[in-house]
Amino acid sequence: MNRPLSAPVGIVRLEGTDIQFPCAPGQPVLEAAFSAGIALPYACRRGICGLCAAQVMQGEVTPIDSLPMTNARCDATQVLLCRCSPAGQSLTVRPATWERQQQARQLPPL
Ligand code: FES
Repeated sequence: MNRPLSAPVGIVRLEGTDIQFPCAPGQPVLEAAFSAGIALPYACRRGICGLCAAQVMQGEVTPIDSLPMTNARCDATQVLLCRCSPAGQSLTVRPATWERQQQARQLPPL
């Protein structure tokens, strides 16, 4: 995947925790979390299942491609973390669940 190089890396925080991790421009927040050793709920990574929906508590998001950042399972405060990247240098989200992993993990290519 080609990612824009001009935008700065955003820092994503999980609300109510001390967890934060970098997310490169154009990188899905979901993928960045796993790369930092944080497991978040997901299944499809294509904006269909809705399992990765999270509330945006602070900051803004931008889509990673032309597909929507929300679906019918999202409420008005939620975005799909598989479909978005931070729009600025700081983003705080509240996922449905999260878990620290023993090791960082790269999600397989789609
Ligand atoms: S993982 Fe299925 S919508 Fe994000």
